[in-house]
Amino acid sequence: MASNTKDLQEKILKLKKERKALILAHNYQIIEIQEIADFVGDSLQLARKSAESNGFEMIIFAGVKFMAEMAAVLSPAVPVYIPDPKALCPLAGYLDAEKIRKKKKEYPGVPVIVYVNTTAEAKSEADMICTSGSAVEVVESLGVDRVIFGPDANLADYVRTHTSVEIIDIDQSGHCYVHNMFDLSMLIELKEKYPESVAIAHPECPIEIQEQADMVGSTGMMARTVAESDAKVFIIATEMGMLQQLQKRHPDKTIIPMYEGAVCRQMKKHTLEKIVDVLENLPSENVVTVPEPFVPHIREILEKMNTVRGQGPATAVKAET
Ligand code: 13P
Ligand code: SF4
Repeated sequence: MASNTKDLQEKILKLKKERKALILAHNYQIIEIQEIADFVGDSLQLARKSAESNGFEMIIFAGVKFMAEMAAVLSPAVPVYIPDPKALCPLAGYLDAEKIRKKKKEYPGVPVIVYVNTTAEAKSEADMICTSGSAVEVVESLGVDRVIFGPDANLADYVRTHTSVEIIDIDQSGHCYVHNMFDLSMLIELKEKYPESVAIAHPECPIEIQEQADMVGSTGMMARTVAESDAKVFIIATEMGMLQQLQKRHPDKTIIPMYEGAVCRQMKKHTLEKIVDVLENLPSENVVTVPEPFVPHIREILEKMNTVRGQGPATAVKAET
């Protein structure tokens, strides 16, 4: 590891203690950030961890902005900082509140479930929120025949294959550009080359990939599966940060990316330098807030989501250094 990286990491660990900062990082962060985080996990795990900030004076959330907003809502007593405020998930851009209102008029009385990858305004129109690790359980928790769902059409397809509840898309074009990079031919080729491998795909992948994968699940589920499985070779269809983590934690296993170009540019905006800057200067422009009128409703549905059993373990995985 470059000495500059080590120096920055040591500086962060020292400042973190002085500031009483809790550092939460998504599985897609660069490995150097994962190494200095208190917890690394999927969106559901991080939402649950965000609600446990007692004893800390600030949270630094290395993930895309909607995730940091989640933390701001669930942990109102502690300021939440994002290392780069421009880390915005493009999938969230598919769903504005007006689109949801229109859909509600079309299907009166049908509950709306939005994926957590949405803006606060979109969430304020929803009856429930889900993550990839809790989508099926959240849909079924409502005990209804049909739900309005968005914005990710691939995740909607995943839910359809796991429930008899009718899923009405809000926007069939909603997708994640990173997970849409995967092509079925990539999986077929790798499966031929590594016949003993286990292929795991994220539910944001197109349905034809999901159908041919051995398992489909959140990034938290991927971490758990690779840790618990006896298999030695895994083909993984998700963002590259997850693969770096898996390979580091399991040097005895071979982790093969379905496509090495699957990099989320928004997740990668965060750097060690930007975390140092937040810890040293507490820049007000890096504080994440949610407009006050939206907060009570979003808090209510996020807390409801946190009580639904999901795919991942109840708490996030402690970062390894
Ligand atoms: P997870 O909740 O599975 O970590 O997914 C978040 C995400 O942004 C996937 O692209
Ligand atoms: Fe958004 Fe896709 Fe990046 Fe996840 S990987 S944060 S869904 S753009």
